[in-house]
Amino acid sequence: MIRTGNFPDPDHWENTIDVRLRCGDGVPMTDLSPDPFAPVQLGPVRLRNRIIKAATSEGRSPDGRVTGDLIDFHRSFAEGGVGMTTVAYCCVSHEGASAPGQIVMNAAALAGLRKLTDAVHAAGAGISAQLGHAGVVAQKKLTGVTAVAPSRFVNPTSFAYCREIRRDEIAAVIDQFGDAAQVAVDAGFDAVELHFGHLYLPSSFLSPLINRRKDEYGGDIDGRSRLVREIAQRVREVVGRRIAVVAKLDMDDGLPGSIWIDESLRTTALLDADATLDAIELTQGSSVYRPMYLFRGDVPVREFAKVMPPMMRPGVRVLGKRVMGSYPYEDLYMLSAARQFVPIMKNTKLILLGGITNREHIETGMREGFEFVGMGRALLREPDLVNKMMEDPGVRSRCNHNNKCMVTVFARTHCVLDTDQRYGAPEPMDLPAPSAVRS
Ligand SMILES: Cc1cc2nc3c(=O)[nH]c(=O)nc-3n(C[C@H](O)[C@H](O)[C@H](O)COP(=O)(O)O)c2cc1C
Ligand code: SF4
Repeated sequence: MIRTGNFPDPDHWENTIDVRLRCGDGVPMTDLSPDPFAPVQLGPVRLRNRIIKAATSEGRSPDGRVTGDLIDFHRSFAEGGVGMTTVAYCCVSHEGASAPGQIVMNAAALAGLRKLTDAVHAAGAGISAQLGHAGVVAQKKLTGVTAVAPSRFVNPTSFAYCREIRRDEIAAVIDQFGDAAQVAVDAGFDAVELHFGHLYLPSSFLSPLINRRKDEYGGDIDGRSRLVREIAQRVREVVGRRIAVVAKLDMDDGLPGSIWIDESLRTTALLDADATLDAIELTQGSSVYRPMYLFRGDVPVREFAKVMPPMMRPGVRVLGKRVMGSYPYEDLYMLSAARQFVPIMKNTKLILLGGITNREHIETGMREGFEFVGMGRALLREPDLVNKMMEDPGVRSRCNHNNKCMVTVFARTHCVLDTDQRYGAPEPMDLPAPSAVRS
C-alpha cells in the first residue's frame, strides 16, 4: 500500500509540466547557485561537497566479499576529494546478480563492508551502496535460475528468456531491498542508492514494453510505478532517518516503446510526493538494448570481441556497433532531458549525471537547480579530479570517452589509460565471457 505524505497531490503533475512547457526550453537559471565544494546535507547525512562518484560496477570482489583491492579503489575517490563514493553493484539477493563476484548484501558480507566504510570515512568522504536486482539482466549461468521480468520477455541482446515474476515473489523482492538496506546501515554506509534504472528489475516494471501485467503492478504508468514506490517506502521504513535514500531512475531507456520521459516525469512526481527518497539521480539508457545510449562516445567493439568466446568474435566485430548502438559523446549529455524534472520536485533533491567532467559543468548543474552531480568515467580516469578542480578551476578531465573501461567490468573495473595505477595495478584481462553489457 502506497502512503503519501502531506504534499501536493501528484495528480496535479500535468499542471506543473504545462507550466514548464510554456517556459520553453527548461528552467530559468538562478543567480544564487550553491557552491559545489561546500558542505551540504543529503537527507540526514552531511557531505563535504556535492560531488558523488557514480556507480561503476567494480568487479573487485571475486567471491562476493570485500577485498583490499575494492577498499583501495574507493579510498582513492575519497582521498581524491569526492563528497560520497558509490559501491556497485550490491545485489539484494543471489538471484539478482548480473555478473560474477557481485556482493550480495547479507550478514556474511557485513564484516568486509564495515572495513570498506571505515576506510572511506577515514579519508573524509561518505559512502553509498547501490542496491539492485538485475531482473531481465540476471544471468542464469550465475544464479542457477531463470531470470524474472514483469511479464515474459526475451532479452534482445543476450536472447535470454525471462519468466513472469509472481506476486509473492514481488513481495519478497521488496523485502529483500529492505533487508539489504538494513545491512547497509549495520555496515556503516551513509546512503543506499536504489537501482531503478537501466532496465534492471525495478525499472523494467516502468517499461510498457516489458511490463504487460494485468494486476496492480501493471497497466498505466501509475500501476507500473507501484513497484519502485513500494521498494522506496519499504527501504525508508527500515532505515528511518539513519541514512540517506537515493534512487537512480531512468528518464528514458532508448528502447522503442519502452520508458519515455513523459511517463518518467509522472513516476518522479509520485516518488517525490511519497517523500520516501532524499534524492533522485537521473539516468538514461539500459543494459538490455543499445547500451551506448547510456554512455555515448566510442563503441569498444574490438575490446568486447576479445572477451567473447572465439566463435562469436567475428560476429561481434561485424554487428557489435549495431547491437550496442552508436551515439556521439557530448559534455552534459543528459542535461537537456534532466532539466525537465527540476520544476516538479518539491521534496526530493536531484543529482545530475552524464558527461560531467569539469568545474564549469558542475556549476552549470547547480545553476540549473540540481543539488548534486554524479561523475563516473571522469573519476575512473582521475580519482583525484575533485581535488584538482578545487585547486585549479580550469583543469580539464583526461577521460577521452573511448569507453574501454566498460569491458573491464567483467573483472576488476579500471580506466585502461590509468598507467599511473592510482587505484591499484591493473591485472591482465583474462575475463569470463559476458552475455550482455552491464551497468
Ligand atoms: C565501467 C562502468 C561501469 C558502470 N557500472 C554501473 C553500475 O554498476 N551501476 C550503474 O547504475 N551505473 C553504472 N555505470 C554508469 C555510470 O554510473 C554513469 O551512469 C555513466 O557512466 C554516465 O556518467 P559519466 O558520463 O559521468 O561516466 C557504469 C559506467 C561505467 C563507465
Ligand atoms: S577507459 Fe578511461 S579514458 Fe576511456 S572512457 Fe573509461 S575512464 Fe575514460
